[in-house]
Amino acid sequence: MPTQPLPIAVLISGYGSNLQALIDAIDNQQLPAKITLVISDQPTAQGLERAKQAGIPTAVIDRADYPDRTAFDNALQQHIERSGAQLVVLAGFMRILGAQMTNHFYGRLVNIHPSLLPKHPGLNTHQRAIDAHDKEHGTTVHLVTEGVDEGPILAQARTTILPDDTADTLKTRVQRLEHTLYPTVIRWFAENRVRVEGKSVHLDLPKERNPQ
Ligand code: GRF
Repeated sequence: MPTQPLPIAVLISGYGSNLQALIDAIDNQQLPAKITLVISDQPTAQGLERAKQAGIPTAVIDRADYPDRTAFDNALQQHIERSGAQLVVLAGFMRILGAQMTNHFYGRLVNIHPSLLPKHPGLNTHQRAIDAHDKEHGTTVHLVTEGVDEGPILAQARTTILPDDTADTLKTRVQRLEHTLYPTVIRWFAENRVRVEGKSVHLDLPKERNPQ
């Protein structure tokens, strides 16, 4: 078991319920991590308030203040590195990162996406799952690569789609799953249970701990 909590940076754009789940898991001693910085690209993101309430340093890095994506990504990278974070956690961060950034952090940059990837990358996943008559839907935590929602999968959690589900009811259930899954996967990193070799991921987990 690690003696030092894993330093992580969390990138958000909005409500920050996944950020809150991480804050709560750390507070409840279920996640041996320390959030060194919360970055938002949106100055009004509600998640910034959650971070401030928890006494976590915040930074707003607004894409509009930078001439191009490379300059924006460089600013993100500098802030993350200065914070001492060893893992970068995208939690509802609505910007696409460039290859320079995804390559630089490859293996220590994760995202949570609200679908059972490779099904339904991109937006409006809940409605798309209903429209496709999928039997189940869920959420995926994956390593981030240049291709959006394409990186190696670390874990998924699933729910059955019910006949009367709407995009909203499905979203509520999927987010509930996310709030357990994301702290769990980040805990694996904190416990050195994740080994990345190229596009292969090896998880060193006791059987009962793997939610798949
Ligand atoms: C989550 O559903 C996540 O899967 C997606 O964006 C949403 C963020 O929600 N990437 P929140 O801001 O954490 O509440």
